[in-house]
Amino acid sequence: MAAAGSAVGLGNIWKFPYVAGENGGGAFLVVYLLCVLLFGMPLLMTEFMIGKRSGKSAHGAFRALSGNSRWQWLSWLCMLTAFVIMGFYFVVTGWCFNYLVEAVMNSFSGLGTQELTAHFDTIQSSKPRMILFGIVPVLLTAGVLWFDVNKGIERLSKILMPLLLGLMLLMAGVVLMIDGSSAGMRFFFRFDMAQITPRVVMEAMGQCFFSLSIGMGALITYGSYMPKGQNVIATSVQVIVLDTLVALMAGVIIFPAVFAFGFDPAEGPQLVFVVLPAIFEKMTLPWLSSVLFFALLCIAAITSTISLMEVVVAFICEASANNKRPLHRRQAVLITSALVIVLLVTCVFVPEVFNYSDLVSSCVMMPLGALGTAVFVGWILSRKKGKAVQPNESWIKCWSRKFYLFVLRFIVPLAILLIVLNGLGIL
Ligand code: PFF
Repeated sequence: MAAAGSAVGLGNIWKFPYVAGENGGGAFLVVYLLCVLLFGMPLLMTEFMIGKRSGKSAHGAFRALSGNSRWQWLSWLCMLTAFVIMGFYFVVTGWCFNYLVEAVMNSFSGLGTQELTAHFDTIQSSKPRMILFGIVPVLLTAGVLWFDVNKGIERLSKILMPLLLGLMLLMAGVVLMIDGSSAGMRFFFRFDMAQITPRVVMEAMGQCFFSLSIGMGALITYGSYMPKGQNVIATSVQVIVLDTLVALMAGVIIFPAVFAFGFDPAEGPQLVFVVLPAIFEKMTLPWLSSVLFFALLCIAAITSTISLMEVVVAFICEASANNKRPLHRRQAVLITSALVIVLLVTCVFVPEVFNYSDLVSSCVMMPLGALGTAVFVGWILSRKKGKAVQPNESWIKCWSRKFYLFVLRFIVPLAILLIVLNGLGIL
């Protein structure tokens, strides 16, 4: 559930609809689902297994498993990626907190399509307000790590996750009853081959990495908490199914509403924030449903930011362990939070940093991290240490081990290289 909490977040509800909207809807969806099968499944399993085998986070795990420090760069990359993501992720989490407050105060009730877009712009125009709302989730995340209450959050997400899904199901039901919503379903589910460009494929792959939290070692840490008897494959399947379900539900809610109310599917990062309030107006209990939804969205975002910040905190602790004065966990939390606030302020003041950190982290850094992880396990570990990191669950047969290794050695690295180089126009 903790790993699902890391995976399910703004990537599913905020990013998926807007990236799909900008990249042709149905075409993007098909490529995205293929990426989930091709990269998501093997890489999720691999990260869990690295953590489970080594009992460590990325920094310690690569060293412990390889027996040397040659692969240490990979953990540096993971840590840097977490930083880059946190900068813009906290800005958007801040928008969610802002909208939660607005929902409580009933501020967007009765606003039309254009007014909702203008309302979002007004919120964005106050930089101090954006910074303030961005700092709130940073402090909450730091508080969870400081007091070590992740366990409580994990238990809580067992109730909140189904609640979020239930509410989304209800919203989908309401949206699909609105006149003109079928055009949105067609946009989201109609596959048009002509829409598939190298850029669409790269964005879909990036979204897959981002949404599943893979390619940056976050799930290595979660794997290190796994009890011995836990089945890595079953856990990976559960996380993937849940994550994909939430993304699909978000699409089924947003696109029909976009077309029914006359929004533009390629609106960009503000898409869900302008469309959602219009949907709540149509619900039986608009105030309650909007407050509940934004509260759940904030919690979903926080369970993801916890795993992001944990990557950096664990890195600092493990990297400084052999120093004369190793850093304590709480010192690491303080340092990380301070740096994240600097990044957050930069993202607020320089929109280019916001836009590029999203693109660069999902389409370059995470794929590079995934490539490194696949080569590390597929070529280095499996050769040096026999079956050091492989799916060793008793029910998995030998052929599927071989298939797993084949995918990790050849398919994953080659496909990533091809997609990124092609998407960036280098090939
Ligand atoms: N998977 C999260 C989401 O979809 O919102 C974002 C994320 C969390 C990415 C943790 C990476 C990570 F390590």
